[in-house]
Amino acid sequence: MKRNVILIGFMGTGKTTVGSRLKTRLNWVHIDTDREIEARVGMSIPDIFSEKGEAFFRDKETEVLKDILTQEEQIITTGGGIVLRDENARLMKDGGLVVALFATPEEIIRRVKHDKQRPLLSGDVEERVKRLLMEREGKYDFAPLQIDTSDKTVDEIVDIIVQACTVNGCV
Ligand code: S3P
Repeated sequence: MKRNVILIGFMGTGKTTVGSRLKTRLNWVHIDTDREIEARVGMSIPDIFSEKGEAFFRDKETEVLKDILTQEEQIITTGGGIVLRDENARLMKDGGLVVALFATPEEIIRRVKHDKQRPLLSGDVEERVKRLLMEREGKYDFAPLQIDTSDKTVDEIVDIIVQACTVNGCV
């Protein structure tokens, strides 16, 4: 297995928080696909969505993912919609240990309610989260490691991932 940990999950499931703690634990590089897209395009995610459109963003997402996965010893955090393309799922499965984080709809809504950086949640946040969760049902299931974050601390989640990584030979 390639020596990368790839965190996937719906918006607000804690990918970024877990990713930065994992970085400290494994002493690997932490790369976030959204931040990489912003750097390459020179625009924020909300601006990319409003000025260039979602299809452009999704193309960039695949491009960035491919490039990142040529390297190893990375914690890769991803945007919640990266699983929408089967090609991305294939790339990730071949690119390292894929870990899916989950949280209850209530917990997700609580975490993202006041956030203005997520264009797909503009308007009625509760309604948007519930609809997108429904549309994306099953999309994160290809990950060999699935973690429900609702009842766990960040350190507990990181322990589970490091343990799985050791067993799978990725650290
Ligand atoms: C998206 C999730 C966002 C970001 C973009 C689209 C999605 O990332 O990539 O706003 O489609 O779920 P986070 O999951 O980090 O919020």
